[in-house]
Amino acid sequence: MLYPLVRKALFQLDPERAHELSFQQMKWISGTPLEACLRQTLPSKPVKCMGLTFRNPLGLAAGLDKNAECMDAFAAMGFGFLEVGTVTPRPQAGNDKPRLFRLPAAEGIINRMGFNNHGVEALVENVKRARYNGILGINIGKNKDTPVERGEEDYLVCMEKVYAHAGYIAINISSPNTPGLRTLQYGEALDSLLAAIKAKQHLLHKQQDKYVPVAVKIAPDLSEEELIQIADSLVRHNIDGVIATNTTLDRSLVSGLQYGDEAGGLSGRPVQSRSTEVIRRLAQELQGRLPIIGVGGIDSLVAAREKMAAGATLVQIYSGFIYKGPPLIKEIVTHL
Ligand SMILES: Cc1cc2nc3c(=O)[nH]c(=O)nc-3n(C[C@H](O)[C@H](O)[C@H](O)COP(=O)(O)O)c2cc1C
Repeated sequence: MLYPLVRKALFQLDPERAHELSFQQMKWISGTPLEACLRQTLPSKPVKCMGLTFRNPLGLAAGLDKNAECMDAFAAMGFGFLEVGTVTPRPQAGNDKPRLFRLPAAEGIINRMGFNNHGVEALVENVKRARYNGILGINIGKNKDTPVERGEEDYLVCMEKVYAHAGYIAINISSPNTPGLRTLQYGEALDSLLAAIKAKQHLLHKQQDKYVPVAVKIAPDLSEEELIQIADSLVRHNIDGVIATNTTLDRSLVSGLQYGDEAGGLSGRPVQSRSTEVIRRLAQELQGRLPIIGVGGIDSLVAAREKMAAGATLVQIYSGFIYKGPPLIKEIVTHL
């Protein structure tokens, strides 16, 4: 496979430039005979989760294809499902650059992108145009300039717009890069948000005669008590799934490394064991009442198996894909 060479070239560039260039190339070749360069034919390993059947248990994590621009290219590589977004009601530019940093010695990434995206309407248009017909998760969030007390409204607007097009909807309340967002993970704010989301789901289910499961994405930086409270809320509100975890604020595993103290969320190998611990603890608490989608530092078949052994039904990758490319998908899907 060519990926080590591709990576070498891309890693010479500024990380965000490398991202843009890769997306440009993928968009160019999508739907042309050159798409065969990306194609990996992998064994079918169907998994049932949240009432849906996934082609295989490995998905693309949120944040890489924020606007759903390259779904066909990612599908060709063999992912069992794709999660696009985080998308917000209105387009927004995100934080000032630079806002994306590689930490190659730790196989980590720090980002403070801040939900740069073209808005929910543009995302829906891209979804409609794509050929992809596998399971699509659409991850939704709130605009930066929406006060957190009114955040609920942004989630409901996004739900309304994406419902008809989503296999499942992911509620992102765990990005560290939107001020105040993570406060929605606690106490009354969480209960009120989940109640509103469930009511909206019920309404849209009746209107569209289609049930779209809702999964909530949580942070790795939660105390045991907070985790137990969140699990209890998710069960009480009949949420369909939980995605664990987002990026971490903890820098203990990257101290002293170049960019190690940049602000933002840290992902990749440094978050691997913490996110597995969160999954294990959640699984103990949930006792199978709702499924867990495991994400955080999966960079090998062994790491994917650890997430499953801890209690995940499905897994996702982002940083591992940046460091290892499509061969990582093949390794995991073939042997998991
Ligand atoms: C550059 C970057 C942008 C991300 N953007 C989002 C996002 O928009 N929404 C989200 O839910 N997670 C986002 N994530 C988090 C990932 O989906 C994932 O939860 C996290 O990176 C841990 O997985 P990993 O170690 O495989 O990267 C982002 C991660 C990175 C590295």
